[in-house]
Amino acid sequence: MGQLWAGYLAAGTVTFAPRQGHTPETGKPALTYTFQPLEGPEAVVTVPYLLASPSLLMVTTKAGDTLDAIESNLHDIVPDTPIVLFQNGMGCQQAVAERWPQRPILAASTTEGANRPAPGCTVHAGKGETWVGPLTKSATTHLTRVVTALGTSGLTVHAEKDIQSRLWDKLIINAGINAFTAILDCPNGDILADPFYQEHIDELCDEISTVMKRDIGKDLPSITIRERIETVARKTARNTSSMRSDRRRGRPTEIDFINGYIARRGHALGVDVPANQMLTNRIKQLLP
Ligand SMILES: NC(=O)c1ccc[n+]([C@@H]2O[C@H](COP(=O)([O-])OP(=O)(O)OC[C@H]3O[C@@H](n4cnc5c(N)ncnc54)[C@H](OP(=O)(O)O)[C@@H]3O)[C@@H](O)[C@H]2O)c1
Repeated sequence: MGQLWAGYLAAGTVTFAPRQGHTPETGKPALTYTFQPLEGPEAVVTVPYLLASPSLLMVTTKAGDTLDAIESNLHDIVPDTPIVLFQNGMGCQQAVAERWPQRPILAASTTEGANRPAPGCTVHAGKGETWVGPLTKSATTHLTRVVTALGTSGLTVHAEKDIQSRLWDKLIINAGINAFTAILDCPNGDILADPFYQEHIDELCDEISTVMKRDIGKDLPSITIRERIETVARKTARNTSSMRSDRRRGRPTEIDFINGYIARRGHALGVDVPANQMLTNRIKQLLP
């Protein structure tokens, strides 16, 4: 995600915050990669290290790395710098907002698709849209400026006042597709006819509907949730989900922030969540 946005934002305006303990090599760029945009020729992108406090911090790590990544960079960043979280799923955004409630923290929900088919190569794989909204009180006044800044990339960016609801809409889709594709090791569309999916999908959608209602007060019938999941699975039938891809590469998945988040919220809100818990456990058995 980070390399996708850096590929579209104007050269010279983007810098890269390295991992904690990493000492930038003087004069050397932080990142150089080839970027394949959706349209037009491949380009070489060079991103320097972050040396001064930025006007905007985009956090594009996986959900499980987010708190650590922000923690290790925060001392260099002035307090009123907006911080935009790009993670899928839910849970890490709330954790960041609770940890730094005075800072302007925003969340982005994006349907842009990017992947790295080979080291040093980033591909914009699918055109999408991005919604950005405030998570903390002080973020509200930054929203227009952040949307304008991200929009200079040429990607489609909208302001979204109710970002929690938007994040939940995406969570539903991820919760109904990703774990099934990783367990069954198949592309998105192939889950639909599989007996394992068919056995659990109705119970899963019932749980999601009840937890969402109790969590944010949004009423979405179970049948509508199933229709939304299956519409996306059909539209992206040949795609490999990020969770299947993580499983194949032996990397940590984001299950704790998808079905695992719904299971945790269910437990906290007194909702039975056996299907979400079962998918979470199955993924954790596949990958520690
Ligand atoms: N890719 C998509 O199409 C897409 C679409 C929508 C949403 N998202 C969401 O966006 C988030 C990022 O996904 P992604 O596909 O971009 O993942 P990714 O390719 O794994 O990129 C994450 C990057 O974060 C770096 N990182 C991890 N910890 C760090 C730290 N402490 N400091 C600095 N950098 C650190 C990683 O470095 P290393 O490479 O060295 O590990 C990696 O380059 C996920 O939550 C994902 O679900 C992705």
